[in-house]
Amino acid sequence: MSESLKLIRGEERAEAPASSKPRRAFIKSYGCQMNVYDSERMGDILAVEGYDLADSAEAADLVLLNTCHIRERASEKVFSELGRLRALKEARGAEGRDMLIGVAGCVAQAEGREIMRRQGAVDLVVGPQSYHRLPDLLRRARKARVADTDFPAEDKFAKLPGLSEARIRQRGVSAFVTVQEGCDKFCTFCVVPYTRGAEFSRPVARVVADVVQLARAGVREVTLLGQNVNAYHGEDERHRTCSLGTLIRRLAEIPGIARLRYTTSHPADMDDDLITAHRDVPALMSYLHLPLQSGSDRVLAAMNRKHRAAQYLQIVDKVRAARPEIALSSDFIVGFPGESEADFEATLAMIRSVGYAGAFSFKYSPRPGTPGAERQDQIDEAVKDERLSRLQALLEEQRQAFNAACIGRTLDVLIQKKGRHLGQIAGRTPYLQAVHLDAPEGLIGHIVPVEIVAAGPNSLSGRRINQGHAAGECPT
Ligand code: SAH
Ligand code: SF4
Ligand code: F3S
Repeated sequence: MSESLKLIRGEERAEAPASSKPRRAFIKSYGCQMNVYDSERMGDILAVEGYDLADSAEAADLVLLNTCHIRERASEKVFSELGRLRALKEARGAEGRDMLIGVAGCVAQAEGREIMRRQGAVDLVVGPQSYHRLPDLLRRARKARVADTDFPAEDKFAKLPGLSEARIRQRGVSAFVTVQEGCDKFCTFCVVPYTRGAEFSRPVARVVADVVQLARAGVREVTLLGQNVNAYHGEDERHRTCSLGTLIRRLAEIPGIARLRYTTSHPADMDDDLITAHRDVPALMSYLHLPLQSGSDRVLAAMNRKHRAAQYLQIVDKVRAARPEIALSSDFIVGFPGESEADFEATLAMIRSVGYAGAFSFKYSPRPGTPGAERQDQIDEAVKDERLSRLQALLEEQRQAFNAACIGRTLDVLIQKKGRHLGQIAGRTPYLQAVHLDAPEGLIGHIVPVEIVAAGPNSLSGRRINQGHAAGECPT
């Protein structure tokens, strides 16, 4: 599906005259947390190339759309945004000013050729495995349209510029680090194995070095990212294969790192080492995102999920035994081809028996090149709509109940930023709930015990309980 595009040469163009004004880039993310992380890293590359970041396309000389191919709607958004950018570029051109438009990410990988064909305003297409080559691609794009969606043999992360302390500080006290990329699981609904390629784990020493640097620049919480993060099997300094559980134990020792999370994990890769890390490592947050997709064994098999419903329940039991206060979230798909009413009800039954604090749920979207899309027994849109609303009603009820049960509890909150109102600050609980409280800004970056006093639809409000702590202390 994701044919590899080499360099596509279009019409030659004159090099834009060098300008003394700093160049400005606008990068927009459409996808998952890894897509957001990639946008940050592309920002780092562009900073080295002399670009400042702009807040809007209107204020930029270079616009990069970092796209997502996971569902049809996500992909289609890109084409409508490109139409708007084309008009902007033409208006600029009329004033004699230049503007470069680039498409990065998973749609670029899967449909690079189609993008070049459908949208003449696009100067540059770059896949998620080749964005370390952006400097060279930009130079070429100033002369002729260019596309690079190779899966290069070299390690992209090893080629990226180092993290700059100023940029880390700008991004705040919570950071993402990709540790694993790609996927070998080939669920029959999913494009990720095609857009991101085969599974790859970054070496332990590189991950540790990144986290040390983040911690030195004030980061307190790190979320380890991977499409299949618990399939992590990076090599350590002594050439041994290291699991995610072992990596987490290493990272928890880094001074300054108070919170660790990981996402997204596959149930089939929840090994005992990782489960015991939930018991042994206090910095590993008691919140686990464990996608189930469907509660029906028949659908799970058709999706090629590699586990049955009962095995998922066993994993949940083990994780809860290791960390009784843990809360779970999940991903669900309704209307996979062939899903009967009874299959769907099995999903509702699983949700009732697990009990989730949060979830993402989607209507099945047939994706080009995936086995699910070829099936003849696609489910009617109206049936998908109806199932999704029943599923979401149940998940929302569970989320609200979980939030309401937090009222009166004291939860550790990592303070991340100023709140919306004067004198207010905002942070997150171990369960990723947003919390607002009245307290000094100096607490940003600290973890403070907060008594939860109310639960709104999207956030909690709380009261700091031990006012005795000075702002400089870190009462973790
Ligand atoms: N690696 C993760 C999921 C990554 S994709 C895992 O194995 O669970 C994020 C979520 O998007 C998936 O969990 C799934 O719920 C949803 N998704 C993926 N492909 C989809 C499709 N074709 N239609 C609808 N939802 C999809
Ligand atoms: Fe997609 Fe996740 Fe399945 Fe891999 S394991 S194919 S990323 S849903
Ligand atoms: Fe989307 Fe690619 Fe992430 S398809 S979900 S941006 S891996």
